[in-house]
Amino acid sequence: MTDENSGASQEAIEFHYDMPAAFFSLWLGNSMTYTAARYSDPDMTLDAAQADKIKYHLDAANVVEGGRMLDVGCGWGTLISKAVQDRGAASSQGLTLSPLQRDYITGLKIPNVSAELLSYEYYTPDTPFESIVSVGAFEHFVKPGASHEDRLATYSEFFRRCAEWMTPDGRFSLQTMAWGDANDTERGLIRIHDVFPESDLPEIAEVIEAAHPNLELVSMENHPEDYAKTLASWADGLKANRDRAIEIVGKERYQFYLASCKGGALLYRRRRFYLCRFVFKRRGR
Ligand SMILES: C[S@@+](CC[C@H](N)C(=O)[O-])C[C@H]1O[C@@H](n2cnc3c(N)ncnc32)[C@H](O)[C@@H]1O
Repeated sequence: MTDENSGASQEAIEFHYDMPAAFFSLWLGNSMTYTAARYSDPDMTLDAAQADKIKYHLDAANVVEGGRMLDVGCGWGTLISKAVQDRGAASSQGLTLSPLQRDYITGLKIPNVSAELLSYEYYTPDTPFESIVSVGAFEHFVKPGASHEDRLATYSEFFRRCAEWMTPDGRFSLQTMAWGDANDTERGLIRIHDVFPESDLPEIAEVIEAAHPNLELVSMENHPEDYAKTLASWADGLKANRDRAIEIVGKERYQFYLASCKGGALLYRRRRFYLCRFVFKRRGR
């Protein structure tokens, strides 16, 4: 990957995500997903809420038997695996900028499930997809300090590509963090790029405006409390597995992830960050 990326480079993504799966599996729970769970019932456990999120995205993107699904920013491959194994999709393809995630998915050896080490910016599919999902990758698509015009141009190009990659009746389910009720001073102090290098969050309005020319908004929800609870559970999981976590990644990295979970939970509780799920379909069909 080169500096031409509009968002986080492969090197920047590796800084946060390219730790052994054995480390993340200590605290992410059964789903092995590194994004906010969906607490449709406030008393849910982390695993139940993650299962709810997975079901939500597969339903929203209309993943059905025989269809094809793309996951932009596929992590360790949970959604692409479930699409084929639980929903009977004919195939599913993931994109990631983490070599360890790509290798992990390849190692699963699930027929018709594959992952490529490639930014969406350089991707061209062979045939269109009935379903596209992207969960927790949009946060990496623009660099800090980009102008409003540049951000909109990058987001618009992403949505234009997604529309082009979809069948006429295709559906796209997007989950992303967004800037919440935070003024400029607070945004400066939060320093999101210390946790996610070369990355900045979108505004809700930017997502909707950028998608509008190519995609119709079907539904949207904003549940910052979902991420507050998820991050609090992750922090508990990390603390409960402290010794093993330090054995795998060292004390400094352990403290980095613990601090980012605790700090993030507080910011979501205070609604300085939002947690949004958008469902889109192609325009003009
Ligand atoms: C927070 S993780 C989320 C992973 C997964 N979707 C989940 O819910 O656990 C962000 C993912 O986005 C990927 N990513 C970031 N920028 C990307 C880009 N430009 N193209 C493709 N994937 C990207 C990362 O490699 C990583 O897999």
